[in-house]
Amino acid sequence: MHALKNRVVAAERMAALGEMAARVAHEIRNPLVSVGGFARRLEKKLSGNLRDYANIIVDEVSRLEDILKDILGFVRATKITKKKININEIVDSTINFITHETLERGNVLVKDLLPAPIIATIDPQRIKEAILNVIANANQATDHGVVTVKTKQEGKEAVIEVADTGCGIKQDDLKNIFNPFFTTRPHGTGLGLAITHRIIEEHSGRITVESIWGGERDIDEKGVLSGTGGTTFRIYLPLDEN
Ligand SMILES: Nc1ncnc2c1ncn2[C@@H]1O[C@H](COP(=O)(O)OP(=O)(O)O)[C@@H](O)[C@H]1O
Ligand SMILES: [Mg+2]
Repeated sequence: MHALKNRVVAAERMAALGEMAARVAHEIRNPLVSVGGFARRLEKKLSGNLRDYANIIVDEVSRLEDILKDILGFVRATKITKKKININEIVDSTINFITHETLERGNVLVKDLLPAPIIATIDPQRIKEAILNVIANANQATDHGVVTVKTKQEGKEAVIEVADTGCGIKQDDLKNIFNPFFTTRPHGTGLGLAITHRIIEEHSGRITVESIWGGERDIDEKGVLSGTGGTTFRIYLPLDEN
């Protein structure tokens, strides 16, 4: 009985904290938008050192905006709107969105989608967000390596697999990566995988991770991975019946 009461109290406290975090994030966002806007105008007018300073303000403001976006995305209860759709289409448009950043970091993105459509009832926006988070992490963990995005069908589930040849995840960290605010990156928020996990749960799916830290991983010109290092995330979503 006590345990249950403690859990209710803890849940209420979390909800209150979440609400406060959402309010703080929201209040900070508006003035930040004007700081960013004016800094961008200054950047255009100035030259030399002063221009560099304005540029730093612009960059730091956009970093803060990203953090606020993550926090709001995590604490806000979002409404999900599901529709029947081809998972390949969702993955494809998500990849098109990220290609530029991927190439910029010297990484290669390999796309390996099942030729046949994989039909499921999902919220396209939310699933895109989940895939984007996982691909962004793979990209950030990898330097001049390969990120492979694959779709397949296993039994009654659609599988979206994101594999990278990056640094891998330490055994001790694996149990924490889905916890909010757990991050090993200097500018990380630790919210990406927590949000992703929530999205997958909202779809009655599951997400798994396999990782070898500090190993070696290779990839041939056909995009086939070999070796031991790197990380593979798999998102499983229930397929439509029939
Ligand atoms: N593909 C990956 N390779 C290596 N580490 C990863 C990978 N994906 C996630 N991680 C680890 O999980 C942590 C949490 O990820 P995430 O929740 O997205 O937060 P953030 O990206 O802000 O750090 C990362 O800081 C990193 O330590
Ligand atoms: Mg992340």
